[in-house]
Amino acid sequence: MPIVKIFLLLSLLLVINYSLKSDGVLEDWCIADEQTPDSELQAGLDWACGKGGANCSKIQPGQACFKPDTVRAHSSYAFNNYYQKFKHRGGSCYFNSAAITTDLNPSHDSCNYELTP
Ligand SMILES: *[C@@H]1O[C@H](CO)[C@@H](O)[C@H](O)[C@H]1NC(C)=O
Repeated sequence: MPIVKIFLLLSLLLVINYSLKSDGVLEDWCIADEQTPDSELQAGLDWACGKGGANCSKIQPGQACFKPDTVRAHSSYAFNNYYQKFKHRGGSCYFNSAAITTDLNPSHDSCNYELTP
């Protein structure tokens, strides 16, 4: 086996190992990209909670994910809800490049970010 192929195989194994948790489930949440300005996040948020079909009830006033009351936090929640709902049916974590996936659980306080295996 040529050395290059062995190297590629090892790299692939490392990547797979890195993205799998010990239980073998790929953990990927979808959140607002730090680079994205609020105006673009707002557009993504509006789409996700509208035509996108995300369930945005938790970011309504008084609900678990309303605070912090920022476009960034609300769009992260909505992007993730959309992504978890549709990722196995063609939905992606994109939102005109306003979103990014992460393996760090964004849940905080009583605000739980859904995760579909
Ligand atoms: C949206 O989520 C809330 C709780 O998170 C749930 O009670 C409600 O039934 C959901 N609505 C839809 C349409 O799935």
